[in-house]
Amino acid sequence: MNQAEQFQAEKKERIIAQGDNKELRVATNHFMEQSILSGYSYNFDWLGRPIIQYPQDMVALQEIIWEVKPDLIIEAGIAHGGSLILSASFLAILDYCDAVENKIAFNPIETKRKVLGIDIDIRDHNRQAILNHPMAHKIEMIQGSSIDEEIVKKVHDFAKNYNRILICLDSNHTHEHVLEELRAYASLTSVGSYCIVFDSIVEDLPENCVKDRSWGKGNNPKTAVWEFLKENDDFVIDSKIDHKLLLSVAPDGYLKRIK
Ligand SMILES: C[S@@+](CC[C@H](N)C(=O)[O-])C[C@H]1O[C@@H](n2cnc3c(N)ncnc32)[C@H](O)[C@@H]1O
Repeated sequence: MNQAEQFQAEKKERIIAQGDNKELRVATNHFMEQSILSGYSYNFDWLGRPIIQYPQDMVALQEIIWEVKPDLIIEAGIAHGGSLILSASFLAILDYCDAVENKIAFNPIETKRKVLGIDIDIRDHNRQAILNHPMAHKIEMIQGSSIDEEIVKKVHDFAKNYNRILICLDSNHTHEHVLEELRAYASLTSVGSYCIVFDSIVEDLPENCVKDRSWGKGNNPKTAVWEFLKENDDFVIDSKIDHKLLLSVAPDGYLKRIK
């Protein structure tokens, strides 16, 4: 085994050990509870737009995007646009790397890779800020409910022109809504790619962490994932991502399409 292989082997072992480390689990659970109560996920920007994510999940997305090399990312839940800009910027890096590898001139505006965002309420100031962002040429937006039949059809029509698709579900976090989203969009995920379901952490939090919401323990993205996996064996939970991150709003939410 050379040094690089040794490094990777140690990483793999460490991640497995972390998954079984009870003290670490207690510490991370405590951090997740307290940080959710303090609104930590609202602290961050990506290239100038507010993003409602934990940094660890952003890094996981980067690793997935590098591995999968998607040409389309579909995101339900836009809010201020930070996650759209994040995905768009990773796709722009892939475009750049393609040009370098193929020794061709890089024209950022002509590249095909895109992010398609869906939100029931794209506020004017957010839409304008997204449209005025340097990454705007990589972004398309659709306004409407992600489970509305017409919206689902529009997304499927858009996806027909793409070959490697990644999905991020981060809109309404009730069990019924996420289950409907999974039924509507998971099939668009390319084999080897991921359908990422955010805010599955709600199932693991004490009741007082989630107030004034239509979701909670027993009714949230994680329960939707569990039910979806009973009816669909094309996906598995990639728990090595959970074990690697430890701090994440998407435990059991990194669904890998295996067939
Ligand atoms: C948690 S925020 C999205 C955060 C964003 N992905 C980010 O990381 O910055 C949830 C968004 O879902 C939207 N939403 C709520 N219900 C929806 C629905 N039925 N269909 C589509 N979007 C919905 C809300 O308007 C809100 O903007």
